[in-house]
Amino acid sequence: MTAKPSTLLRELPADLERDRLPKHVAVIMDGNGRWAKKQGLPRIMGHRRGVDTLKDILRCCKDWGIGALTAYAFSTENWGRPLEEVDFLMTLFERFCDQELKEMMQEDVCIRFVGNLSALPNSLQLEIERSMAETQHNKSIRFSIATNYGGRQEIIQACRAIAAQVKQGLIDPEQINEALFEQHLYTAGGCDPDLLIRTSGEMRISNFLLWQVAYSELYVTNTLWPDFDRAAFHQALSAFQQRDRRFGKV
Ligand code: IPE
Ligand code: IPE
Ligand code: MG
Repeated sequence: MTAKPSTLLRELPADLERDRLPKHVAVIMDGNGRWAKKQGLPRIMGHRRGVDTLKDILRCCKDWGIGALTAYAFSTENWGRPLEEVDFLMTLFERFCDQELKEMMQEDVCIRFVGNLSALPNSLQLEIERSMAETQHNKSIRFSIATNYGGRQEIIQACRAIAAQVKQGLIDPEQINEALFEQHLYTAGGCDPDLLIRTSGEMRISNFLLWQVAYSELYVTNTLWPDFDRAAFHQALSAFQQRDRRFGKV
């Protein structure tokens, strides 16, 4: 397999308006298994190729001036997959942190991991902590990786944290509003995605960013994640720029 040519579409395509780009793009990177099956390869090869795609889309966001990318890498439901696949993914994430850190520093990428990280293997937790700590002051792009992430679980843990503060008398129930609630989500400090892309044709959210996608534009493509290249991303952004975002107004 050849690596993707990252020099392709290096500049923002001329038909896209720079000041109307999404500030934050979220992606449900689906279809790795089907991609591998189509090639007659084991599923894990799809995940491996999917990492190359993610790296290029991250770089593309940076090249084109998009300030935040959030990628769904592992859901709370994905533990239900065969043990070998889960183990492979955990190792893949760990290797990603270890191997890419230097480049992420050079490219000024701020890495965040969002999800219930305490349930991940210890060795992966250490790599995650290191990646987040070392890149925390980087400014070019905020790159969030949703790992052991579940939207419902995120909302429940926020409720628990707020309830504990109420119980201690630190806050009054009347003070609970959207702004306060958001401070207790894994994604605290970031803005909501303007555009949510799902690859491989599935028209569902699969427990991703339930709170944050309230007003995101949704874009579903049949392209499988390992085939999602800059041209496919360009199409998604073109579609986004044709949308009329009304936010409930007229
Ligand atoms: C998405 O690809 C990656 C993860 C969920 C980790 P899938 O592994 O879900 O691929 P399909 O949907 O089976 O093709
Ligand atoms: C969503 O994909 C999770 C990730 C991309 C990490 P799934 O393949 O797990 O979702 P379903 O099962 O098709 O809803
Ligand atoms: Mg899938």
